[in-house]
Amino acid sequence: MSQVLDAYQGIAELLQERHRQGLASDALIQTLGPATALDGIAPQSVDAVVMDPPYYDNVQYSELSDFYYVWQKRTLSDLYPGWFDDEVTDKQNEAVANPARDGSAKGAKARYEELMQGIFAESRRVLKPEGIMTLMFTHKSADAWETLTNALIEAGWDISACMPVESEGGYSTHQMNMASAASTIFIACRPADRSNRSPSGWAYEVRSKLESAVRECLAEFEVLKLNPVDRMIASWGRALRVYSEHWPVQDGDEEVPPTRAMQEAARVVAEEEVSRLSGGLVTVDDLDAESRLAVIALGINGLGEFAFDDALQMSRSLNFHLQQRNGNYRVSDDLVAYASAGDSERAAPLAIRGNKLRLFKPEERAAQRLEHPQTLWDLLCGLIVLYRDGGIVAARNYLSTHGKRDNAALRGLLKVWANECDEDDLRREALLIDYEL
Ligand SMILES: C[S@@+](CC[C@H](N)C(=O)[O-])C[C@H]1O[C@@H](n2cnc3c(N)ncnc32)[C@H](O)[C@@H]1O
Repeated sequence: MSQVLDAYQGIAELLQERHRQGLASDALIQTLGPATALDGIAPQSVDAVVMDPPYYDNVQYSELSDFYYVWQKRTLSDLYPGWFDDEVTDKQNEAVANPARDGSAKGAKARYEELMQGIFAESRRVLKPEGIMTLMFTHKSADAWETLTNALIEAGWDISACMPVESEGGYSTHQMNMASAASTIFIACRPADRSNRSPSGWAYEVRSKLESAVRECLAEFEVLKLNPVDRMIASWGRALRVYSEHWPVQDGDEEVPPTRAMQEAARVVAEEEVSRLSGGLVTVDDLDAESRLAVIALGINGLGEFAFDDALQMSRSLNFHLQQRNGNYRVSDDLVAYASAGDSERAAPLAIRGNKLRLFKPEERAAQRLEHPQTLWDLLCGLIVLYRDGGIVAARNYLSTHGKRDNAALRGLLKVWANECDEDDLRREALLIDYEL
């Protein structure tokens, strides 16, 4: 209630000056209805559109509203005739991705895009040519961002700026939903003038501009101390700005979809992350898929648990599959495996419990996998276990057996482990191994 009063007071104060000037009666038009039809607002008449749209499938507002609607209908319909004529609230025009309404996840994505495109087109109609539109968007999934970008571009908008802002309180419904990022991304858009624009080339033009924009924004975000997942999402915003400015983008004969821009941004973020964590000793190209994810997970959470959704999100951005593999398996560059913590042969680097993942500690990994390591991460775990059993001589022999005696990337990994694993004993041990090596 105090929030409602606060918001009401804020709006009233905004209008006070106009009221004093006698302008109040025509200064404010308030309408209720789907934003796909802003009836009563003349074309090119407003200076700014400020929008906080639904974040894809995050909150089903109308389904939640029904809970209150049916009670309000019984208590308020005499006072407000016409407000409660419908049986329940309108679901069809709600701009959300709702598989229950649209039959499937694919149908829900298409309907969200269609409704958002209608809203953006209507916003463009009422905005003055030099006007601006801002929206907030807080979602971790690449699908949600792709859909939003398609809708914006198709409705004739360019993204002109993108900035993460810490805005939602820890207890909001959005925040409790795992799909939500901790920061809200503010996106500013301008009506696109594409009259003299010809298609841009992905390989020679857009990709390199996008890479520089993402590196620049990562440097800029440093002061904001974003968590790595938010850093990734904020970087998508920047990548999509470059993409929308150059749209349509071609790679040979193929049209490049916005997902390519996001994947490229994710690659740059992972590259920066790996190099930052290892103090420049390891690059993303030195690492196989499992070691790459292990390094990033270590950087985000140490040895603690993290949401399965976060890992899934990363797998989509970094182009690998996340799969349960109990027992031994052959690693490949498009697979990162996890095993149940109770599995007797824990060859995978990640343990699953409920909807949380964590890194297995070296001593928890299957001895057979460490004897026959397939990834740099296996080798790091084997090195630590061997050192505990037989000191530096055993550790050196282990590395020599696997031809990695002087491997710089492995030493980099050992440094990341020493810096990021959150148990003092393990850190001291890693520093000692590094020193003795
Ligand atoms: C993220 S919330 C905005 C919350 C608001 N900023 C606040 O602080 O209360 C998105 C809102 O968009 C509304 N909405 C959904 N579909 C819509 C449509 N087609 N036209 C207009 N509003 C819609 C939802 O009912 C919800 O209230």
